[in-house]
Amino acid sequence: MSTLLRPAPAALAPLLSYLHGLTDRRADLEVLQRLLTESAVSVDDVAEFLHFEDRCYCRNLLAESPWFNVLVLCWKSGQRSPIHDHAQSVCAFKVLTGVCSEVAYDLLPDGGVRPARTRDYRAGEIVASHDSETHEVSNLQGDGAELVTLHVYSPPLKTMRVYSPAGAAGAAWRAPERS
Ligand SMILES: [Fe+2]
Repeated sequence: MSTLLRPAPAALAPLLSYLHGLTDRRADLEVLQRLLTESAVSVDDVAEFLHFEDRCYCRNLLAESPWFNVLVLCWKSGQRSPIHDHAQSVCAFKVLTGVCSEVAYDLLPDGGVRPARTRDYRAGEIVASHDSETHEVSNLQGDGAELVTLHVYSPPLKTMRVYSPAGAAGAAWRAPERS
């Protein structure tokens, strides 16, 4: 049984139609990337899901079922995710406004991580990750510059592993979520 929390933007109809059709398997990451790329969704379309927090980036739930969730993530300047993997989920997100900085990490035999590459993504660009792929996402823009990203996880990513660049082994972590 799928749940739609508030009326979803029309620009997300093809994406949500695909996601609501998932009843016994997770989404295909290439399909998610294509649907996000093709969607004309803008930050204005998700205005009622925009909520920022001073303490941490804010995850605002737009739609969910046992097989997916869609969240609008709002990042103030300087806010960043932990270094995290994606458990058994696929994840694709689209930058709606601002610049999103991603550092991808390699996993080391001792359980630590090492930075592998850094890339900035601008409005309209897509970032895709799955399973053990490990990264950190940040808003490294200057004071007052906001970042908004639209994320799809399938199945919902409830508990991921987080890592320290100091080399500590991963620990389970649960992201705060606002609905
Ligand atoms: Fe991620």
